[in-house]
Amino acid sequence: MEFHHISVLLDETVNGLVTDPAGTYVDCTLGGGGHSHRIAELLQSEGRIIGIDQDADAVEAAAERLKDVRCRVDIVHDNFRHLERILREQEAVQLDGVLFDLGVSSHQLDVAERGFSYMQDAPLDMRMDPDASLSAYDVVNTYEEQELFRIFKEYGEERWAKRIAEFIAAARGTRPIRTTGELVDIVCRAVPKKVRRAAGGHPAKRVFQAIRIEVNDELGILEKSFRTAVAHLKPGGRIAIITFHSLEDRIAKQTLKELSKGCVCPPEIPVCVCHHEAELRLLGRPLRADAEELSRNTRAKSAKLRIAEKLPRKEELTC
Ligand SMILES: C[S@@+](CC[C@H](N)C(=O)[O-])C[C@H]1O[C@@H](n2cnc3c(N)ncnc32)[C@H](O)[C@@H]1O
Repeated sequence: MEFHHISVLLDETVNGLVTDPAGTYVDCTLGGGGHSHRIAELLQSEGRIIGIDQDADAVEAAAERLKDVRCRVDIVHDNFRHLERILREQEAVQLDGVLFDLGVSSHQLDVAERGFSYMQDAPLDMRMDPDASLSAYDVVNTYEEQELFRIFKEYGEERWAKRIAEFIAAARGTRPIRTTGELVDIVCRAVPKKVRRAAGGHPAKRVFQAIRIEVNDELGILEKSFRTAVAHLKPGGRIAIITFHSLEDRIAKQTLKELSKGCVCPPEIPVCVCHHEAELRLLGRPLRADAEELSRNTRAKSAKLRIAEKLPRKEELTC
């Protein structure tokens, strides 16, 4: 199946990220290579892109997409949670820009067998890396009811989390829940009809998001990965993060905010004793897709782009 994905906030991201046409840029979520291709258009032959994705389909599609660009391209099939090691292996210690375009690609949602979509019946899977050991089947069939409740509540912000977890536990008591279709039926039975109609959107949307986050440990790896990326930026280098739901956006916002804090002394201390330095400067407010983009790509509706720039250390400024 052809790899289909429309890159969100493409110009805003790439124009905000690329400052040096001969620089080194890391795309931590390569997908179909859409953002990387646009970055490559701005780079000279001395420039370099390191593209990372944990999904072999994405790696293959991006390699094809990027094969004729003029800059150097290195593609790494791995999880960006290993960014520190990947950079060491790539001998790329000092970076000009790092991009995170989080979540799943449209391709992953479109291929029914990947089991990400509540719109298509398929085996319960949802692994971005098909070699990973934990799948949606394991979560749905082996997690304690209480644990399912927690996941639906925390990762799905699902109001009916308790009832849905109860219905799942009851259903799997008879036989395992094998497919996305079976799971959708159970969720639909658990959420009262009146609420389903009033809420709008698909009743299984939040449950699927929650299970996907759990299967791929999508939130647990973010803060450390962002900090690693920032630690490797040159002064003036930039980090761009695109998020698609409030949970990952909160982590992006808080991490960037903390890294852009200077003195952290308590307010009652008249002179700074902590000597804490801000590492980043936030560049403007988060950006959202405009009406034109939304008319082409509904997936951009929830997207938020945050960009920040690495500051020089104080001693670098004075010498
Ligand atoms: C939204 S898509 C990126 C699309 C890409 N920017 C483009 O324009 O074509 C997100 C991609 O990131 C990958 N991904 C998500 N989390 C990852 C992780 N922790 N490590 C590596 N890749 C990840 C997914 O497999 C998916 O291909």
